[in-house]
Order: sequence, then C-alpha cells, then structure tokens
Amino acid sequence: MSVKKSVHIKSYGCQMNVYDASRMEDVLAPMGYAAADAIDGADLVILNTCHIREKAAEKVYSELGRLRQEKAARADTARPMHIAVGGCVAQAEGEEILRRAPYVDLVFGPQTYHRLPLMLRELESRGRAVVDTEFPADDKFDQLPEAGKLDGASAFLTVQEGCDKFCTFCVVPYTRGAEFSRPVDPVLREARLLAGKGAREITLLGQNVNAYHGAHEGGGEWSLGRLIRELADIDGLDRIRYTTSYPAEVDDDLIAAHRDVPALMPFLHLPVQSGSDTVLKAMNRRHTAGDYKDVVARLRAAQPDLALSSDFIVGFPGESDRDFRDTMDLVRDVGFVQAYSFKYSPRPGTPAADMDDQVPEPVKAERLRTLQDELNRQQIAYNQTSVGRAMPVLFDRKGARDGQLVGRSPYMQAVHAALPANLLGEIVTVMIDQAKPNSLSAVVVADQEAVA
Ligand code: 5AD
Ligand code: SF4
Repeated sequence: MSVKKSVHIKSYGCQMNVYDASRMEDVLAPMGYAAADAIDGADLVILNTCHIREKAAEKVYSELGRLRQEKAARADTARPMHIAVGGCVAQAEGEEILRRAPYVDLVFGPQTYHRLPLMLRELESRGRAVVDTEFPADDKFDQLPEAGKLDGASAFLTVQEGCDKFCTFCVVPYTRGAEFSRPVDPVLREARLLAGKGAREITLLGQNVNAYHGAHEGGGEWSLGRLIRELADIDGLDRIRYTTSYPAEVDDDLIAAHRDVPALMPFLHLPVQSGSDTVLKAMNRRHTAGDYKDVVARLRAAQPDLALSSDFIVGFPGESDRDFRDTMDLVRDVGFVQAYSFKYSPRPGTPAADMDDQVPEPVKAERLRTLQDELNRQQIAYNQTSVGRAMPVLFDRKGARDGQLVGRSPYMQAVHAALPANLLGEIVTVMIDQAKPNSLSAVVVADQEAVA
C-alpha cells in the first residue's frame, strides 16, 4: 500500500501543457499522489513550463525563487517538499536549471513524464537531483495509464505532438521534437473513455494538429478530418474542437468536416503570424498572405458561420513599416473574433535570433499597440453582433458570483448566465443580452426545444 502524498502542478503556456499536467497526475496516482490545488503542504510541486517567449522562462526562475523558501522552511519537518521542473523550459535548459536553482530535485521534458515514478525512486535512493530530458525511443503514450479523472465537461486530448516546420522564430521543434501522430485506435479509446466519464466536448490538441496522420489498425492513415468524423459518432460527445493548426496543411478533408459535421464547432484558431510575404518567407512559413486568405475563403464557403482566431508576431527581424502595414491589411481583410499577438522575442538557438535587422523595442511596442487596437476593435464588434442571438452554451465552470455559471459559445466566447449549479456540464440554449470586450452575458431561453 503506497503512502498518501500530494502533488501540485502549475502549468504555463499552451493547452498541451494542461493536458500533460493531467496525465502526470495519472502517472503519479498509483504511487499514492493525490492532486492538490495549492502549493501549501504539497509533497511534490511540479512547474510545467513553457519556453515559447522569454518572459515565460524568467517567470519560472522567479517562481522557483519563491518555492526555494517554502522548501527550506519545510526541510526539517516530517513533510519535506520536492521541486520538479517539467515542460519545455526543462527540455531546453536541462542541467542549466540545476545550476541556476540547485535546490530543484527533478528536471524532465515533455517526452519523459511517463518515467516520473522511476525518477522519483531514483531521487529517493540517490538523494540527489535527477535530470531526464531525452527523447526516448519508447512511445510515451503507450506507457501512460488510462486517462484518469475528468476536470469539467470539456476535455483535452493530445493526438499529435512536435513539429517539423522549423519556423525561424520558434523553439517548438527543439523542445517538443519531431512531428508525431498518435495512432487512431488509442485516440478513439481515450475519447470514448472521456465521453463515458461525462465529457461533452473534446478539444484535439497538437502543435500542428492538422498535420495529423494517425496509423489505423485496419491499415493506412487517417487525416484529422477523418478522425473528427469518427469522433462525432461517439455517444454523448456533442462538441469537437482542435488546435493549433498550420494554414498550409488545411486539407479538403478538414474543410469538408467543417461543412458536414455539426459537432465540429464553427471556430478555428489558425495562426498566420504576419501579413507580409517577405516576413513570412524569412519566418520560413510555407504560405503567403494570399494562401492564407484562400484557405479562409474555402473554409468559409464550407462553414459560413466560422469564427476565426489567429496568432501574430510583430517586429520580426527586418520587418519594415510597409511589412507591418501588410499585416494590418490582412487583419482588416480577414476579420478575427479574437487573436493573440506578441512582440518578437529572440529565442537562443533559433535562426531568427541571429538575423541582422533586429527591430528596436519601441518600434515593436508601437506596432503591437496598433495591431492590438484593431484586433480588440474587431473582437468587440463581433461580440456585439452576438447580442440578441440565441445560442447553445456548454456551461462547464462556476462563475465568480454565486448562482452564476460560465461556459463557451460555439464561437469560443465566454458566456455568463444566472443558472442553477445542477446545469454544470450541460449545454443550455441562452439568449445573449450583453456584450463585453472579453465575454458575453446571457439569459435562459424559456422554451429550449423551440430554439434548439
Ligand atoms: N517570439 C514571439 N512570439 C512567438 N511565438 C512563437 N515563438 C515566438 C517568438 N520567438 C508565438 C507565435 C505562435 C505562438 C504560440 O507564440 O505566434 O503561434
Ligand atoms: Fe513553431 Fe512554426 Fe511549428 Fe508552429 S508551425 S510549432 S510556430 S515551428
């Protein structure tokens, strides 16, 4: 019988880290570790890190500084604390973490967390820090236990990992490794399990999820579009989403799925990064601004209701005022319901970090402000078009106020409504009565059947 212990995992960055965190809990559960909501009193604290931009890594080091005090305070008590660093900063920095923060006990990458029990045993027997940041030949997913508890009605499911695109600004190909698709059958098994536990929505995850080409036991490979069709047949699974996608790999199958599969939500996060062909080329993106607009036009022809989101980088090396204007033109042409935008941040080891013509900080800041003003304007305008519309919302969280639930519209907008707690996890048709910049509020529609 294992001793009862607790683990607190703090995740940074993308949704794949959120998924990985829940799988780490699954791996640690048989060792007696229960998930803890707070650092206080946890036997093991894992920082599940992100390396995509500079600030994220710095945040980890400052968080480690705080943890050091907590660890020291508990050093001579009956419940000492162990500190682990996982995720992409761990993968990229490896031993460097132990140099900067020698009180850390474990360092492991996104491809080795299935070996956590081994690492913990090694830590116990050797009494010194363990670093495991290999890209092991064995398939992590084959080694993981079945997905454990479900956190709300909306679940993540990683189907693809890694990336071979090597955009010149990006660390992902180095931290997450080569592009890999999980085979179809374990993915379907995991989806059925999640639906059986009450998941109404599944978001398929991958750094390049639409590059998915999973092997099928019956022979051949399935595309993401094919996989989505199959998932839509699972009982109880009402909503399917996927993220993140690469524009040049949106294929006809996927476009057809947007046309034919009602469970596939009319929202797509499709990063374009820049609207300038010169910059896109320097970024090693395999699409032009025109290609992006074409793909969007084809998607919208298949699903006219499609709401689009994107990622943008401003101040990439060599980006001129003219290049930036091209980005603004693309934003105005395409129209986005939400978006993420960032100042270019040089990542050591990536080609763009060594390019000439780095853009001065004040120019980056000014461009980011201009871009975000326009993106915010579009988001607010879109949210306002939702007022007066009835739409089904999956309420999966309690609101900040008593008697309030929060969920997502089909278009990924956060929606608040006064609803009883027994509707948590349900899809309820509500009437949007107010739009705020980042959320909507709604009232219940009396006759659900009439509008469904
Ligand atoms: N600098 C700024 N933004 C970056 N992103 C990735 N790498 C960098 C970088 N070096 C952004 C991209 C990507 C998103 C996840 O993060 O827009 O799509
Ligand atoms: Fe990074 Fe480009 Fe791969 Fe996206 S497609 S993960 S930005 S290298």
